[in-house]
Amino acid sequence: MKKEIKVFAPASVTNVSCGFDVLGFAIDWPGDEVILRIKEKPGVKISKITGDGGRLPLDSSRNTAGVSLMSFVEHLGFNKGVEIEIHKKMALGSGLGSSAASAVASVFALNEMLDSPLSRKELLPFALEGEKLTCGGTPHADNVSACLMGGFIIVRSVSPLDVINIKTPANLFCTILHPHIEINTADTRKILRKQVLLSEAVKQWANVAGLVAGLTSGDYELIGRSLHDGIVEPVRSILIPGFDDIKEAAIKAGALGCSISGSGPSIFAFSTSRKIAEKAGTEMKKILTGIEIAGDIYISKINKVGPRVIK
Ligand code: HSE
Repeated sequence: MKKEIKVFAPASVTNVSCGFDVLGFAIDWPGDEVILRIKEKPGVKISKITGDGGRLPLDSSRNTAGVSLMSFVEHLGFNKGVEIEIHKKMALGSGLGSSAASAVASVFALNEMLDSPLSRKELLPFALEGEKLTCGGTPHADNVSACLMGGFIIVRSVSPLDVINIKTPANLFCTILHPHIEINTADTRKILRKQVLLSEAVKQWANVAGLVAGLTSGDYELIGRSLHDGIVEPVRSILIPGFDDIKEAAIKAGALGCSISGSGPSIFAFSTSRKIAEKAGTEMKKILTGIEIAGDIYISKINKVGPRVIK
């Protein structure tokens, strides 16, 4: 058995406009890295957290990666110890699935170290234990599923867990603007309406169906027409300075559509080429700079690999 393993797990864009808690996909960069070592003394120990994770607890029982690993270790009946270092390469509260990436990286690393006794799908419930910690109660499984499975996923059901990977067209590019402000997912879930009108729901599920059909058939126009969220985006976008202008700038630059990534503040846009995706990014960032907020731009295709061993 190897003494240590280093794993990268990608960030993810979830909801994808109309698919609140249901749709998501992995991107190439950013992501989190975890180094895992097997120790003689039983237990799960977090020895170090670097990057924006400086504020996260080292206590395994209060850390998403720690909790996920503890549940996996218990399931395996693994009688040795596990030590991890978490290197956060993305900001907390960015809307890019930061906590999910660390949890996925940890669980995936141990599974790889033990020669993959479980499939990726079988690892999902353990990685999800971490999300339970951050949101309490029934977790949303979109970030964890997209990160662990890679590609574009549909969470058809959380309990029992039913996650489906769907095909996406080859020239679908994603631009992500990450404004440097922090938004707490649990807070933005609390402000959402608990009830919607049937007429609003009909529009929403029509768009989800259109989006999935557009993705699987490679119909870019249909993808663009379906990127509308009349339920969650109007509420959450209020918390993102300049959101409406940023969205307009992305679409003017040629993007198919634009919405919030996860619970924000990151904003994503889909385009049909890297050139348009880059132009959209430049125009989106101009708006942010104009209101004196710093931000990063990431351009990525849909990451079909998910977590991977890097050493
Ligand atoms: N689907 C979740 C939400 C993702 O929108 O609250 C959180 O990143």
